[in-house]
Amino acid sequence: MLRAERISKSYRASGGHVVAVDGASLQLERGQRLGLVGPSGSGKSTLAQVMAMLLAPDDGSLTVDGDRIDVWGVHCRCELRHRVQLVFQSPRMAVDPRLRVGEAILEPLVASRLLAARDAECAVLLHDWATRVGLTYDLLERFPHEVSEGQLQRACLARALIVAPRYLICDELSSMLDVSTQAALLEAIAAIQAEQELGVLLITHDRVLADTWCGEVADIRELAARSGEGEADATQRHASARAAALSALVRGRQRRAMPP
Ligand SMILES: Nc1ncnc2c1ncn2[C@@H]1O[C@H](COP(=O)(O)OP(=O)(O)O)[C@@H](O)[C@H]1O
Ligand SMILES: [Mg+2]
Repeated sequence: MLRAERISKSYRASGGHVVAVDGASLQLERGQRLGLVGPSGSGKSTLAQVMAMLLAPDDGSLTVDGDRIDVWGVHCRCELRHRVQLVFQSPRMAVDPRLRVGEAILEPLVASRLLAARDAECAVLLHDWATRVGLTYDLLERFPHEVSEGQLQRACLARALIVAPRYLICDELSSMLDVSTQAALLEAIAAIQAEQELGVLLITHDRVLADTWCGEVADIRELAARSGEGEADATQRHASARAAALSALVRGRQRRAMPP
């Protein structure tokens, strides 16, 4: 399970600081399709980056299948980082324009020295993942500016999946794509998700899409409140149980004290 507990993150901004995420808790299980909705600026992308170990939170904890994350960003062990992959909203911002599409897909494996670009295994993996996400081989030789937004987003998806993650976070994956490309991409993810028991967190501002595609949907505005509420409920239950036990005790004593 990918478990974020009471995550808080603020940014320094001109004239003060912005609280982007305030005590949010969220859990994603393997094989689950969870939607995360909320308006623009509500901290969805910030929480996504924390959960993908790219951004250190100010407070709170993150565990991936029981392993607690203490080191963030590039210093985090690649075995841990590879367990959670994030596909960003804008593929053009996420891909190095100097790399060919195929090289960009292989980059995480090569950068973490798991494989060398010349390895025969790289070519096999590349062709396998290109097929799965619906990219034709000729596109692999092109540069990012020579392919469409949808094709580049498919490449970003392949790049995320090539490291065999356990959890995939898609941050507004489809907001820049037309409806049919969006549907095709979600279909590709669904097939891989079922096959590999991938936990998928689909971040979107489109509630209808989230309700249609995901088994469960969380609203980021309720995540902190919900965890707080949960605690309040538990405290309340505890208090009621105490009160009931106390009154039973008092009644028992009264009965014993009373003459028959
Ligand atoms: N790098 C940053 N520096 C300063 N403020 C930021 C930064 N990233 C996000 N923010 C601010 O944090 C808040 C949450 O942003 P974000 O996580 O991108 O929300 P969402 O993805 O829901 O639109 C916003 O007010 C945004 O302006
Ligand atoms: Mg965002």
